[in-house]
Order: sequence, then structure tokens, then C-alpha cells
Amino acid sequence: MLNKPAQTSTPVHELIRERWSPRAFNGKAVSTTDLTAVLEAARWAASSNNGQPWRFIVATNDDASGHAAAVAGFAVRNQRWAKAAPVLVFACARKAFEANGNPNAHSWYDTGAAIATLTIEAQARGLRLHQAAGIERDTIRATYGVPEEFDIVVGFALGHQGDPDSLPEDLPGREREPRARKPLADIVFSGKFGTPAKLG
Ligand SMILES: Cc1cc2nc3c(=O)[nH]c(=O)nc-3n(C[C@H](O)[C@H](O)[C@H](O)COP(=O)(O)O)c2cc1C
Repeated sequence: MLNKPAQTSTPVHELIRERWSPRAFNGKAVSTTDLTAVLEAARWAASSNNGQPWRFIVATNDDASGHAAAVAGFAVRNQRWAKAAPVLVFACARKAFEANGNPNAHSWYDTGAAIATLTIEAQARGLRLHQAAGIERDTIRATYGVPEEFDIVVGFALGHQGDPDSLPEDLPGREREPRARKPLADIVFSGKFGTPAKLG
């Protein structure tokens, strides 16, 4: 199995070090227990005013037509890898708070936090996840009847990691590309924006 651990400046938990976003999935089903647990993890994320704006639409490959409909919700370039994943999910965010109808400026932020939480639970269970902003929002809205009160934020594939060479075209090479991040000094400041914080 291809591993791409984060090259960190200081040790971090292995769930974070080992997480990455493969595109190759082997099609093996995700158990109902694991699928329920990752969604349960998302449920317990923090959110602004505990508004819980996230909603998830789940399709699994034990329902071939439902899975095919979900594949069609991904942009064509992402369908190339998403179609092999046993679980496809679309995350939606409620634009306004249910309690008072006020706009929720943090609905996408909260939905991202829920997916980050879900991702760590998935990693702990030996599952991998690949998110995609490249989705067909009009198609998804029509297919699932997503109400206008909700934005469609992102899609993701969930499953067991597969062989990079099972991917088409340029994707095996991209699967093996090293992972890169900006240095901490470029993203953590102290005193003045742009001044790197002194860290260990
Ligand atoms: C919001 C979001 C949107 C993304 N959209 C796509 C996408 O449309 N297609 C794709 O192949 N990967 C997509 N990715 C995956 C990122 O490219 C990937 O997470 C990033 O390169 C960092 O790699 P890593 O997750 O392996 O550390 C997306 C990730 C996120 C969080």
C-alpha cells in the first residue's frame, strides 16, 4: 500500500501524520458499523452556536443505480477516481440558523470541521477519504432534491485504499507525487501579520 506520511517539523499524532487523500480505492465495501461511526464523528463536531448546519447525502455501491447517480454528481475529471469508491458522500450546509433564521456566516466552516472530524475517525478505522470541490451542484440538487436553504459544499469518496495503477491516464503518477505544505513560518504569525511566530 502506498503511504505518504507527512514530513512534519515536530512529531504529530499518527492519525494526522498518516492521513492523505488517495484517489485509488479497491471497491471493498465499507461496513455499516464503520460508515455509521464516521458520520457519528461528524455529528459531534463543534459548530457556531451549535447550529449543526451540515447534512450528508450518502450513496453506497451495494445499490448500483444509486451509486451511479452519485458518480454523476462529480465533475468528469473526478469521476475517473470517484467511481471506484464504495461510498460517495455530498455534504450540504444550511445557510441560515434554524433557531432564528439569521444568516450563518460559518456554515461552510462548520461543515468543514465536521468533515475533518469524520476524516480522523475514518483514518482510525483504516478507511481513506478523498474530497472534491469539483462536483456538479445543479445535478446533485436535482438528483436528491436538495432544498434551496442548503448550499452543496463538497463531495467525497470513502473506502479502502487501492492500487495506484488501477487509476486511469495521468492519475497513477499523481497518486505517487510527494505531498507538500507551506512552512509554519509562512502561516503562523506573532505581533504583526506576516511576522513568523517563534516556535520550537
Ligand atoms: C475542499 C476540498 C476540495 C478538493 N477538491 C478536489 C477535487 O475536486 N479533485 C481532486 O482530485 N482533489 C480534490 N481535493 C483534494 C486535495 O487536492 C488534497 O486534499 C490536497 O492536495 C492535499 O493533499 P492530502 O489531502 O493528500 O494531504 C480537495 C480537497 C478539499 C479539502
